[in-house]
Amino acid sequence: MRWPKGLTGLCYGGDYNPEQWPAEVWRTDVELMRRARVNLVTVGVFAWSRLEPQPGRYDFDWLDRVLDLLHDGGIRVALATPTASPPPWFSLRHPDALPVTADGVRLGHGSRDTYCASAPAYRTAARRIAAALADRYRDHPALALWHVHNEYGTSCYCEHVAVAFRAWLRARHGDLDRLNEAWTGSFWSQHYSDWAQVCPPRATQYLGNPSQLLDFRRFVSDELLAAYVEQRDLLRAATPDVPVTTNYVLGGWVPVDHARWSAEVDLVAVDHYPTEAGPGAEEQTAFAADLARCWARRTARSGARKGPFLSDSVAAGALPNMPGGPAWLLMESAPNLLLTPGRMHAKEPGRMTRHSLAHVARGSRGAMFFQWRASRGGAEVFGSALVPHAGPDSRAFREAVSLGAALDRLSEVDAGTVRAPVAVAWDAESWWATQATVLPSARIDYAAEVSAAHRALFRAGHTCDLVVDGDDLSGYALLVLPAHYLLSDRYAARIRNYLAAGGHLLVGYLSGIADEHARVRVGGYPGALRDLLGVRVEEFHPLDPATRLPLSDGNTGRDWAETVRLTGATPAVTYTGGLLDGQPALTRHRYGDGLAWYLSTRLDDDPYRDLLAGLAAAAGATPTCPAAPAGVEAVRRSTAGTSWLFLLNHTDATQTVPVSGENLLTGEYADPVVLPAGGCAVLRETAAG
Ligand code: GLA
Repeated sequence: MRWPKGLTGLCYGGDYNPEQWPAEVWRTDVELMRRARVNLVTVGVFAWSRLEPQPGRYDFDWLDRVLDLLHDGGIRVALATPTASPPPWFSLRHPDALPVTADGVRLGHGSRDTYCASAPAYRTAARRIAAALADRYRDHPALALWHVHNEYGTSCYCEHVAVAFRAWLRARHGDLDRLNEAWTGSFWSQHYSDWAQVCPPRATQYLGNPSQLLDFRRFVSDELLAAYVEQRDLLRAATPDVPVTTNYVLGGWVPVDHARWSAEVDLVAVDHYPTEAGPGAEEQTAFAADLARCWARRTARSGARKGPFLSDSVAAGALPNMPGGPAWLLMESAPNLLLTPGRMHAKEPGRMTRHSLAHVARGSRGAMFFQWRASRGGAEVFGSALVPHAGPDSRAFREAVSLGAALDRLSEVDAGTVRAPVAVAWDAESWWATQATVLPSARIDYAAEVSAAHRALFRAGHTCDLVVDGDDLSGYALLVLPAHYLLSDRYAARIRNYLAAGGHLLVGYLSGIADEHARVRVGGYPGALRDLLGVRVEEFHPLDPATRLPLSDGNTGRDWAETVRLTGATPAVTYTGGLLDGQPALTRHRYGDGLAWYLSTRLDDDPYRDLLAGLAAAAGATPTCPAAPAGVEAVRRSTAGTSWLFLLNHTDATQTVPVSGENLLTGEYADPVVLPAGGCAVLRETAAG
């Protein structure tokens, strides 16, 4: 992880789009930013048509003035390359660079992201505008960070993509025999005899090939990464001291393996927009922040990594680790709105601050927003902003000012690292493979399974890591593997070692089913983990939504059940009644010095929380702040000598937490801490809390 020189304390600011406003507004903006203590803004994300109004003819005058004004105001800049939004002239000139959908429709201009990342003309134009910006602003004192593109995540199915996909497949599989084997080519007559026959997974008559779909997602991730790396390398060459990043977007449609990408960015930066308005928003916030923190660990050691299918230039040079550990940055969030499906929900007073502090508590080096000033036109006219349409005389802006002051008072926490005693496994490829495969039940969604495990630990008061293949597992008391559909032999061996060395493991249904080509491991589920778990699953029993299977501990299972045969494990909970009467629902198996559990059905949130809380306790993990009442989130950042305890009251009642320390937000010593409804405290703890 690298950090911009001269940028101290926590970052506060967001996307700033001065190109949407007359110059008189820029001065006001800088004054307001100073009032709110904004110290970093992202400029130029979608400004390509203003920066290069005609091919090769640049207009940087306006951006010069904006950057000078910001610099005079003491505000640093994350300067974006505008390549997520090619100008209309580009699309007209290069129709072959317009994206084609899976069903063959070539899209037109009129929005953002209208490009094919494999089209040579697009890549050339993107490099050219990035180089022009680097050349112009390499010495500008406001430049703190390069922000490449915006939310990489598009796919295209055109002929350029077909050519690039074939090259990628050759590098991955070697020859067609291996490709046919990996893709089970003998199924439905899909045996390829010439590379020219291999295509992106375009629209087909009936179901597509899951292995092809999975490889396509991997390819798109690598292809977009290569496009990022081209820009990163030329920016690095121009400004070796300025870190380079891109903002990640999270979602089931995103064909980007962020864990893998994180070895190639200088700083992990994520955008996060909860999709729920209730307490789910806080749980989603914690989940996204924990993901970002765990991805950031890969950045810290990127010097050691090199992806197998990327060019040499992709292998990052060794980057210094930060004393504060894997820090990352919340690059975008919505200040005053929750964007729930079909409705924008105004955030209650204080909620923006609470969400921001939740990210900072989990390692973010600040809180950045989309966007600074609400646009007066365009596709996102009612989007969220620190300066809303109502202007600065508004509740939203007043809270923005108070958040700036709060972040200022918290700057010392930036040195602290977050440590989690428990972990849930995360795997983009299992997500993609389960999306590509017709599963026995449409009610299984990979991301929902992982979120449910994370939520259970969150509600049990644990700070939780989200680990991916390659992470060091040895420090965790408990590891949870929910619906980890794909499992390579290598990762299974690492889990085996973790367990043998004394780890505690809970494996959920639909884990270890398939190999890395999405081919089922035969002989009984969960193929890769049968011996560790001491079970052999013969049959799945997907349930209809109304069915509840009574369990011997008084809870019920829903949505999914299995015929589990014991091959060494002992039953801990059994199904009672019906087809599976007396058969194991939850099993327990000693393996080496460790303990492995297998859960073959879905539990409701409360019993799942109780189960994981019990397993964590038995494994020796304690919640972050055992005295915190339900609904109060507690997260600790610490250094060798100091710790800071974040307490966030997500309830609408006053809550008392029997802990003590100086509350940095008020400057007062608190003992106990009394949190008003929706209130927060950040305690500098004098002794281990
Ligand atoms: C994303 C994008 C922004 C904007 C916001 C709106 O995060 O990066 O450009 O579209 O969503 O919520």
